[in-house]
Amino acid sequence: MRIEPAVAVVGHVAVPGDKSISHRAVLLGAVAEGDTHVRGFGRAGDTQASLNAVRALGIEVEDVADDELLVHGGELRPGVVDCENAGTLMRLLAGLLAGRQGRFELTGDESLSTRPMERVAEPLRRMGATIGTTDGHAPLVIEGTSLHAVDYELPVASAQVKSAVLLAGLTAEGATTVVEPVPTRDHTELMLEAAGARVRRRPGFVAIEPGPLRLGEVEVPGDFSSAAPLLVAAALVPGSDLTVHGVGLNPRRTGLLGVLERMGVRVAVFNRRRAGLEPVGDVQVQHAELVATELHPEEVPLLVDELPLVALLAAHARGRTVVSGAAELRVKESDRVEAVTDLLRAVGARITSRPDGWTIDGVPARLRGGRVDARGDHRIAMLGAVAGLASREGADVQDDQVVSISFPGFHDLLDSLVRR
Ligand code: S3P
Repeated sequence: MRIEPAVAVVGHVAVPGDKSISHRAVLLGAVAEGDTHVRGFGRAGDTQASLNAVRALGIEVEDVADDELLVHGGELRPGVVDCENAGTLMRLLAGLLAGRQGRFELTGDESLSTRPMERVAEPLRRMGATIGTTDGHAPLVIEGTSLHAVDYELPVASAQVKSAVLLAGLTAEGATTVVEPVPTRDHTELMLEAAGARVRRRPGFVAIEPGPLRLGEVEVPGDFSSAAPLLVAAALVPGSDLTVHGVGLNPRRTGLLGVLERMGVRVAVFNRRRAGLEPVGDVQVQHAELVATELHPEEVPLLVDELPLVALLAAHARGRTVVSGAAELRVKESDRVEAVTDLLRAVGARITSRPDGWTIDGVPARLRGGRVDARGDHRIAMLGAVAGLASREGADVQDDQVVSISFPGFHDLLDSLVRR
């Protein structure tokens, strides 16, 4: 797809429902008592994989509207589940199934089949689970068995691994505890609490005891990670002024806002409210000339999916930005350290890879533009589009349709905001 340079990014928009929360609503709704009514569901490739997954396990889900579901909770029946491209689905489902009756096989696409799965299998085995990986990867085979609680200290900061252990804890005997090296997104804990589970928590620590769930209603806020490329486009292009309405503002997700402010961007948040236990509001970003910033390792989980956009901001900021402590990016939908380096170099940025991030020497001016490749990774495809808009000559983005994994209407929405 050809992306022409923008004169400004202006307007008011809403983005589809949060992907992380949508996955959790479907998975928890499937095992909850009674019906779960999900409003604001973010329909996209990954979340559709979650719907297909619970249906393959015998759960009835009614598509009430494009963004609305009725999940009829029940017993999960054994079977084979294709998790497609969705790492969150595979890891959370492994935890959810480990203590339930039957044999389950979880498969994934080529990208998901290269991602590390021992990180979930290992703690689940400590709980008594019978779970096999294929040389550390998918397919996973789970023979459901009775579990016992463990105290687990996460070796890597991963909300997906934390969530897998907590979901297994729902069916384990005793109180399962998880300690994380740095706080990661807590959507699982918040939804479990909303469903009446016995959860105790303080920063970096969660305990869960087994018991029934009843969700009833879930309101999914707009996805901050889908708002992020739009907000970054506005931050980069002179004359821009953009407001995204009804977006999730869970502080474990919004690390990008702090980085934008430190780089000199004008950020305002209005109409703060709650959707269930999740904070929501409207975010306005206005362009400003950018300065380099330092990224602290504890910030990484708070903006892990936005780090490619941070690299793009840094390429437009006066001075040197060093991003470190982000080795996890190498095991996302693509090796995002290398994918970002190649993409930003192709549009004229000065960036070098480090084992756990990048060094970027920025210039407060438009980059040249060029031909880039999304490498089958939705976040890299969106990065390419924003880089093209902010450039002098525009960009050709190969494999751009992969945005549909998290944000099917991304290009149309962005186009509606761009003045050329
Ligand atoms: C997610 C957690 C993060 C994030 C992913 C979604 C989740 O992964 O990168 O896009 O929904 O729990 P890790 O927990 O593996 O860091």
